[in-house]
Amino acid sequence: MDRIVKIFPTPYELAEKFAEEMVSMITEANKLGKPFSVALSGGSTPELLFSLLGDHYAKAVSWQNVHLFWGDERCVAPGNPESNFGMTKNKLIDKIEIPVSNIHRIKGEENPVNEAIRYSDEIFSSTANRNGLPFFDLVILGLGDDGHTASIFPGNLELLNSEKICDVASHPVTNQKRITITGRVINNASRVVFLVTGKKKSEIVEKIINNRDEALSFPASYIIPAEGMLTWYVDKESASLL
Ligand code: 6PG
Repeated sequence: MDRIVKIFPTPYELAEKFAEEMVSMITEANKLGKPFSVALSGGSTPELLFSLLGDHYAKAVSWQNVHLFWGDERCVAPGNPESNFGMTKNKLIDKIEIPVSNIHRIKGEENPVNEAIRYSDEIFSSTANRNGLPFFDLVILGLGDDGHTASIFPGNLELLNSEKICDVASHPVTNQKRITITGRVINNASRVVFLVTGKKKSEIVEKIINNRDEALSFPASYIIPAEGMLTWYVDKESASLL
């Protein structure tokens, strides 16, 4: 597996370039008349991307075959400012014409254990499958300051090889309950991209990209798609130690 690292001068230029590339992936799928399944990341980094897609690509591409999923969600109601779905709705979904049935939201307001099971079934029945696992066309990930990705935290490395499609996790500092897709599902995807910006991520980025021993405790280090493409989109600040 080749790990491609693309460095951009600013977060805006990074988001702009990836928005362009994501739209060409969707256009390709539309040409083939195929659905395009994407698992979105949460947190703050993808906000710029979602705004750019909503503001500049709402009409430039058909979203009719796009299926939106979330790689993880905070166990809060969709109206809560912490909600990844809520953020995406404001920045992107409210601006595009996409069938409601194509929006596969994690119900953060429900009982986490039951919801992880329900969402696993929804993912499995709403995506293509490969190797007996859901097969996403694209998984977008972020990188936490502690090396976590999706909601797979350093204390939960077992979620990287879990038999489950989704599982419940707890944020190590806030104890906030999270629902996350697991490592095997991420690594089964056709394309996986990390979107990472900001100086405070530079040490972690350097350790992971240069395969330092310390990176062995970072869940993000284990995101290595078996048959897919892995691309790190980093800005100059987060790449400053590379
Ligand atoms: C979440 C995310 C999480 C995020 C990282 C980076 O729900 O918080 O999915 O994995 O991507 O914590 O967060 P920032 O982009 O805010 O730095």
